[in-house]
Amino acid sequence: MHRRLFLPAVALSAAGLTAAGTLAGPTTQAATASAASRTVAEPVVTKAVAVLMPVGDSGVSGTLYFERVDDSKVKVTGEVKGLKPGEHGFHVHQFGDLTDTETGKSAGGHMDVGEHKHGRPSDEERHTGDLGNITANEDGVAKVNITDEVISLNGAHSVVGRGFIVHADPDDFGQPTGNAGARVAIGVIGVAQDGLK
Ligand code: CU
Ligand code: ZN
Repeated sequence: MHRRLFLPAVALSAAGLTAAGTLAGPTTQAATASAASRTVAEPVVTKAVAVLMPVGDSGVSGTLYFERVDDSKVKVTGEVKGLKPGEHGFHVHQFGDLTDTETGKSAGGHMDVGEHKHGRPSDEERHTGDLGNITANEDGVAKVNITDEVISLNGAHSVVGRGFIVHADPDDFGQPTGNAGARVAIGVIGVAQDGLK
């Protein structure tokens, strides 16, 4: 009985390997096998953090926390200081690349999954990373408390590993990117130390 079950299983397995080899080639097949042997339960990011540093000599810095509220929302909290009073564009940008802290341009444009126009956070059409504005008080401090339903900490809309930019001017929601002017603070959104489940 055992023998009769065992033989067909070997035949199936051999057929599967042949098919995969034909489709994917030996290199991919080896890489897949290696990844599979390390597979454990998929980690879920529940909290991320971005430490914002000044672009050039802007003097703007801060810390932002991104917390998964439920499967569909992310709460962004924290504080940005050193700003001129008033509104400042506040966006997730494409790249968590801080190689150019003189201009902040290494972070690329606004993060977008798909191809959308720039918009308000509440707009049906917006870039994924369009989080609108933060408002600095007379002391140049902006307290952040935003809940967003488009960005995520997991999956296709995940902002983990992307860049964060605070701008010199208000995002006026004009095209293509809101006319928010120079980049004054830059950071990378990373997994927070208590943020993996
Ligand atoms: Cu921006
Ligand atoms: Zn945008």
